[in-house]
Amino acid sequence: MRFGVQEKKNGMMSGLTNGNRQLGVLGLGHVGLPTALGFAELGFSVLGTDSDSAKVQMIGRGQAPFYEPEMGELLRKHLASGRFRPVASLDETVRLADILFICVGTPHTEEGAADLSQVESAVRTVAGSLNGYKLIVEKSTAPVHTARWIQRTILRYHGDNQKFDIACNPEFLREGTAMHDVLHPDRVVVGVESARAKAWLEGVYRPLQCPILFTDLNTAEIIKHTANAFLSMKISFINMVSDLCEAADADVKDVARGIGLDPRIGPHFLQAGVGYGGFCFPKDLNAFVHVATECGVDFSLLKEVKNVNDARIDRVLRKVQKALWVLKDKRLAVWGLAFKPHTDDIREAPSLKIVKRLQEAGCLLSLYDPQAVDEFQKVFPADGERLRYCSSPEEAAAGAHAILLVTEWPEFAAIDWKRLRTRVALPLVVDGRNCLDPAGLEAAGFEYYGMGRPVCSPGS
Ligand code: UGA
Repeated sequence: MRFGVQEKKNGMMSGLTNGNRQLGVLGLGHVGLPTALGFAELGFSVLGTDSDSAKVQMIGRGQAPFYEPEMGELLRKHLASGRFRPVASLDETVRLADILFICVGTPHTEEGAADLSQVESAVRTVAGSLNGYKLIVEKSTAPVHTARWIQRTILRYHGDNQKFDIACNPEFLREGTAMHDVLHPDRVVVGVESARAKAWLEGVYRPLQCPILFTDLNTAEIIKHTANAFLSMKISFINMVSDLCEAADADVKDVARGIGLDPRIGPHFLQAGVGYGGFCFPKDLNAFVHVATECGVDFSLLKEVKNVNDARIDRVLRKVQKALWVLKDKRLAVWGLAFKPHTDDIREAPSLKIVKRLQEAGCLLSLYDPQAVDEFQKVFPADGERLRYCSSPEEAAAGAHAILLVTEWPEFAAIDWKRLRTRVALPLVVDGRNCLDPAGLEAAGFEYYGMGRPVCSPGS
């Protein structure tokens, strides 16, 4: 067990000594559930609720509703400790909790704006159930001025401004490392406008011993969108450099290393490949551009970040086609379907578009992912020889004319390539994440095509 925050910091300050405030988490998705369990691990008593009652029941039985490393273990630990209690009724959660963290989903609309209907619905229920002072904390990612709307909505539907405060406390956890990120954040950002809200949230986060940045509400909201937009921009930037490296016969991995050692740039989010996906970057970028436009600011830079990312799919498919010439009736092993490793989440995953395009081109597909197959099958059902799911990367590669790596699960780096060479129809690998060792593959007899790296082939 590597959480250890509570054990390490119990002596100094824990949730149990923080005025015994009851925490409530509204929305038990990829942000809400890890957050709730993180608070329980810190020693707080936490109630968690969700509009999906089947999900609440499942969580109550100790079953995690999605795959996230270490989360199931912590869920069972804190159901047993009694510090985390899933509750079916939002109303009951509001009445019992002192601090309410709103963690419901904020997908995007057709026009790219954030769809705040789940936030509004949760807030109206909160307004109807207020039974004393509450601190209402916006944790869902939402555009600037959402906190103001939450405030206005509660006043409209309840009408007493003495009984609540609003805070904005954006979350920076990543899927796949959510529990680690919740318990060991780089920083906590809290937008507040009252001394009580500030003191209460300081009490919640002080045990984490990280910098806590207090701002106003609007600023905290903009910090969250800016962080995701900036990280997306780094990815699109390195992807353009990757295209240049390819044309100029250079290696983008070394370029990333060469610039990343400069502390002003930093080494992270400079991994070139098939582009970013997931539930956050694509929608948050859209929402940020949208809100900027509404504020009269043309954030054209970010529109280009999206265009560059969209073009990654063509880029990788052209690479496959250049390696194979004709795609029709070629068998392709696709390794990795989740939008990133260590999750079963396929929302906005590059694999969705890649598999669709390969299907349209008439390829025979053998798909493998250690966690995301169940989710992927809901979108792409198995279809005989045309599309089959495999239980190992080796099984997917058997008889393949090429292997296309889409998600960099660590197990792909540990493949015995010499052995695999005897099972494939043609020894071709397109590494969409630059996570394999070109020299090792070449030595095993494979042609290697990375993203923005020189081609390696045994004959070259
Ligand atoms: C992202 C942010 O990193 C979190 O800080 C934030 O809290 C979260 O969104 C959110 O807003 O909820 P997440 O989407 O879970 O987290 O995952 P990331 O690790 O950021 O990866 C996002 C996408 O970028 C993935 O598809 C990943 O493969 C891709 N990526 C990442 C690259 O293509 N290159 C890189 O160098 C890094």
